[in-house]
Amino acid sequence: MDINEILSLEVLDEKAAEQLIESAFQLQQMMMLYEAGIREIKTKLDILSEESRISGKPNPIDSIKSRIKTPRSIIKKLKRRGFPVSLRSMMENLNDIGGIRVICPFIDDIYTVADMLMRQDDLTLIERKDYIEHPKPNGYRSLHMIVEVPIFLSDRTQPVRVELQLRTIAMDFWASLEHQLRYKADVEVPPHISEDLKACAEVISATDRKMQQIAKELDAL
Ligand code: GTP
Ligand code: MG
Repeated sequence: MDINEILSLEVLDEKAAEQLIESAFQLQQMMMLYEAGIREIKTKLDILSEESRISGKPNPIDSIKSRIKTPRSIIKKLKRRGFPVSLRSMMENLNDIGGIRVICPFIDDIYTVADMLMRQDDLTLIERKDYIEHPKPNGYRSLHMIVEVPIFLSDRTQPVRVELQLRTIAMDFWASLEHQLRYKADVEVPPHISEDLKACAEVISATDRKMQQIAKELDAL
């Protein structure tokens, strides 16, 4: 919306203006909930990370990134999936408004972190997709989990869903570049290039497994 469109809101009648402000307030509240959900889970991850740091154990978490979907892309996704465009619809139908990506050094660390999180009884697992055991046909690998976390408000407890993606540094390298390449190409990626990308994923995966094996061997010394 440019500034002229924003200023043109002034010509809305009083009732329409009130409705608009009310909707904006509800959206703001909703986004606050998702931000709180992300913060809750990030705090849990930070504590696990800190715990391993002070005990002198290798940290199973390399880094954590988080993002919240913009209202614009929320609407785009609802429309693409054929869902109604409303706050209720976005809460009920979208699981990835709040997203956290956990980057781990080794493959085993992914499962260690996932287990540590799921042992916490305020988290509810809604869905788990293991694209490491079962990579996507294009070679994509990560462990995806949709978790529900309670947000304690002044007068009620509101559960919110957060999408977690756990992957190794190597898997993240591939996924980030693949996303960038696919995003950049306005055209459909030709099959031979998809094959090349998949071959890269296989090389990276073999390296991940080798590094894991090296870590285990060194650990046993
Ligand atoms: P969407 O959330 O609409 O994608 O559907 P879904 O919930 O069935 O998807 P899925 O759990 O498979 O993937 C969700 C997210 O994982 C995506 O939004 C991406 O961030 C990431 N992802 C999934 N597949 C790929 C892929 O092939 N390449 C890359 N780079 N990222 C992927
Ligand atoms: Mg999703």
